[in-house]
Parts: sequence; C-alpha cells; structure tokens
Amino acid sequence: MRWIVSSLSVLWFVIAVDIAIAQTARPAPEPATGRVEHPPVMAEKFMVAAAHPLASHAGHAVLASGGNAMDAAVAMQMVLNVVEPQSSGIGGGAFMLYWDAKTRRLTAFDGRETAPRAVGPDYFKQPDGSFKSFWGAFKGGGSVGVPGTLAMLELAHRMHGRHSWASLFEPAIEHAERGFEISPRLAASIALAESKGLGGFPETTAYFFNPDGTPKAEGTVLKNPAFAETLSTIARDGAKAFYTGPIARDIVAAVRATADNPGLMTLEDLADYKAKIRAPVCMPYRDYEVCGMGPPSSGALTVGQILGMLEHFELSGIGPTPEAAHLFAEASKLAYADRGLYMADSDFTRMPTKGLLDPGYLTIRAQQISRDTVIEKAQPGNPPWRDAALRAPDTQRERAGTSHFVVRDAEGNAVSMTTTIESGFGSRVMVRGFLLNNELTDFSFRPSRNGRPVANRIEGGKRPRSSMAPTIVLRDGEPMLLVGSPGGSRIIAYVAQTLIGVLDWGMNPQAAINVGHVVNRNGATDLEAGTGAADLAGALNALGHETRVRDLNSGLHAILIRPDGTLLGGADPRREGLVLGE
Ligand code: GLY
Repeated sequence: MRWIVSSLSVLWFVIAVDIAIAQTARPAPEPATGRVEHPPVMAEKFMVAAAHPLASHAGHAVLASGGNAMDAAVAMQMVLNVVEPQSSGIGGGAFMLYWDAKTRRLTAFDGRETAPRAVGPDYFKQPDGSFKSFWGAFKGGGSVGVPGTLAMLELAHRMHGRHSWASLFEPAIEHAERGFEISPRLAASIALAESKGLGGFPETTAYFFNPDGTPKAEGTVLKNPAFAETLSTIARDGAKAFYTGPIARDIVAAVRATADNPGLMTLEDLADYKAKIRAPVCMPYRDYEVCGMGPPSSGALTVGQILGMLEHFELSGIGPTPEAAHLFAEASKLAYADRGLYMADSDFTRMPTKGLLDPGYLTIRAQQISRDTVIEKAQPGNPPWRDAALRAPDTQRERAGTSHFVVRDAEGNAVSMTTTIESGFGSRVMVRGFLLNNELTDFSFRPSRNGRPVANRIEGGKRPRSSMAPTIVLRDGEPMLLVGSPGGSRIIAYVAQTLIGVLDWGMNPQAAINVGHVVNRNGATDLEAGTGAADLAGALNALGHETRVRDLNSGLHAILIRPDGTLLGGADPRREGLVLGE
C-alpha cells in the first residue's frame, strides 16, 4: 500500500508541477476532459476575472476609463445577470469582500436574501407531517427569499464607487437590448433544466425555449427588452425602484401567484430589506491572514477551520499528493461536521463564531486526524461555548447556481464577490426579465430534531446559511490573493484547496485552479473525473476512504498580487470565464 501511495504521490506531484511550470510559459495541452487550460494572465495595473467574457470586458472597460474596483463590480454583476442569467442577478443575493486601499480596511458586505416575515418554523412541513424534499420545494414562489444583491451593491457603491451609478448599467442594458449569443454552458444548462421544471413558468418558458418547445441552442441570439427596461429604471431611480413601486409589486404578485408552491412575500418584506456591513472573518494561516464572509455564510468559518487544522501538518513538503488529499479530506470532515451543528445567521441564532476558529480548539480537532486511518463520520466538536450540546445538526446542502468574480484596480482597491440565485435558474420564476432565487431552500427544512432546534431553521427575516466564500488573503496587512467559487456546499472545498495550491505549494492561481478537486463533506471522498485527482482513488481506498469519481464543477476566479505589484489571474477551465488585465 505504501508503494501505491508513494508512486501515485510522485505521479500527481509531477503532473501538478508540470502544469504550474507550463502555465508560466505556454498553454498546457488540452486534457482528456476537453477543457482548455490557459496560462495565467499577467498585468501591471489592473485586472478582472469573471465567469463570462462579456462581464470581464465590461469590468475591464470601467477600469480602463478611470473607474475603480467597486464601479467595475456593479457593471460586471449587471452584465452577468444578462449573459449568465442562470447563476446570479438582482433577483438573488450576494456577499462582497472589499479592500479599500486608502484606508487599508477590509469590509464584508452582506446582500444575502431574507425569509419573508410571515414564514414560520413549519414552513416546509407537508399536511401528512413529513417535510418537503429539495425537489418538492425549489420551484415557484415558495422558495423565493427577499433579494439582496441590488441593495448591497447600491450601499457599497455609495460608499466606495466613483463613476455614476447609472453609467455602470450601460453595458448590461446594451447586451439586453441588442442581444448576446447563448454560450455553450448556458445552452447546456437550459437543456438540462428542461427536465427540472424550467418550462413550467410562462415568462421563463418564452425566454429560454423556442415557440415549438425546444430549448434555445448555443449561438442563438437572446434579447431581453423587458430586462433592459428594468435595468434602465434602476439605473435612473436607484435600488428603491426595485424594492418599492411597480417592480416590487410585480415581484410580490409573481411570488404569490405560483399555482402549486406560492410564497408569502409582501411589499413590506421588499421595502424593509437592508444590506448589512459586517466584520470579515479572518484566520491566520502560516504567513498569511485568510479573510472571508462570516455568518450568515459558513464559508469563511469552514475554510478557516480546514486551514487551521491543516496548519498542524507540513503540506508544502508533500505537495499535492495522496497524503495531502487524505489530510485535506479528514480536516474537511471535521469542519463540515461543525458547520452542520453550529453555523447559521448569527443575528437569529447564537453561535460560537470566535470559538470555531479558536487555535486551541482547532489543535484538539486536528489531533483526530491520523495519517494512516480515516474518520468514518466526524462528529461536531465542542468549541469554547457553553450552549453546544443543545443543538441538532442540519444536513441541508446548498446548490450550485452561483458565480464568482474578482477585481483589482490600479489604486489597489479590490473586490471578491460571490453572487447567487441558488440553483441554476433559481426558482424558475421570472419577472420583468430576471429570475428570482430559490434561496429559502438553503434553510434546514426541519426546524428541530429529537427536540433540539436546528441552528439553520427557517424564521421570518432570517438569512439562510450559505457556503459562499469570497476570500481575500492578506500578507503583511495587504491583499495578496483574491479568490472564490460557485459550487453550493462544495464551494468551501474548492476555495480551501485553491488556497493550499497557492499558499502552500507556490502555484500560480491558474495552476492552483486547474488542480483536480478532492471534496469531502463528511461522507465519501469525491475525486474530480478526468484529472489527477481521480488517479488517487486506489491510494485513498487503501487508506479506508469511500471514493467517488465525478464531475466537480467549480467556477474559481482568482487574482494573485505579487510582491512586486504585478498581477496574475486565473479563470476556471471548467467554465467559460476570462481574465483581463492591463
Ligand atoms: N446558494 C448557494 C450558497 O449560498 O452557498
């Protein structure tokens, strides 16, 4: 067994280092999966990376015309809403980490959706006493949370933007009016979603399907005049034109009118929505500080726990080997176990935010990790906090309709933003040209188990627990890496693994993104098909892991700020993203 482990170690390490070297010199050959791996993009002044080339071009144009990172973020989000409508937009929620170069301050903006005030703990309970399944709950107005992305962007832009709010909507309005070509990924998503209820809602059907009922194909030019009008109104009148008035009335009507799953959202819910400014959650890791989004996201805490445990192991010496994959999977199991029990919206649920990252606590947790054996099922630990025993764990897993982008401007301001409508195409309910989220399915459907409350139970006004992990890594108090990903509850693993690639293995961000994923959410160890990670199955099985080889569809975008100030960007070859810089 040792022989298998060490020969595979060498193989994966050689492949990974080879990729890292190739990225700095020439495009790597196309791998068996058919994905195209580009070399990292280098720039001296500014850089953007997003999941769709048109969004990257919009951000680049804003920066080239003297706008700052916040301006670029607004423009990029609006274009993503048009050209990648299945993943994010003003009908959803988002988290943004923002580094302000002048004050040298990091701020976390929370634009997470809220549950309508009228929902109660048994919201997902059916007449026979059972609880809905995800597939029974995600479609229709009943899954729609009060959207937060627009309120968050307006708040952040008022504080940090330079260009006028209205001007930042121009690229998106132009794409919506003139039309854009359906990308291969959007075409595949429409076709896939057909069997998952995408065709069941009139406005959504008319937009994504041909009159004969077939899904619109790649290359079809899609125009969205309704959305162009919505965007023009918001550009002119601000976010209040979304949260009150005719657009708000149409959102509420659409949410409440769904035939088999109507929602409870009211005009007051929309008018009362507030984006929040929160302190980022930062975790020291080796020579760095890894900062991200705290509650209501589990992102930074779970990423921080994984890193805090792995800090007890020397990773740089062993590289991306089966040993590293094993240690990563074991730390992930322990962190995901704590996530299930403790993490939720801390405005509603008391939780040990500090205790979960307590170095003494993570040292004790790390002692459960053995190099030779596996933890069957990790149990949550006891961080320094006295209410720990009173909770029941939550098993809800967020889905993967999400996008991540990063921006670094010429003045040193930086944005790392993850944005979502939850599942691909959200609730499927479309209003005035945009899709509404199904974020309420990120709550635990069961409010309690065995008499103990679940921290992430649904409550009126509460924000569902997220896994989104927009991250900014600091070195000597200055940003050195911006990164994040879509991927539902796997986001945590994708981001943590990419951090290890850059911080421990010295990879450039593109090479780190390319490395095959290893994901363990406290169960089987998932290995990414068609990559070096899949070759680890034998070695990991021999250690006792249950492994599954499967697609692991991250959408990582990252910018590395090197000590000399130059920028290196990476876009995930698993999606259609683009890095642009100057
Ligand atoms: N809905 C995806 C997430 O919040 O993690």
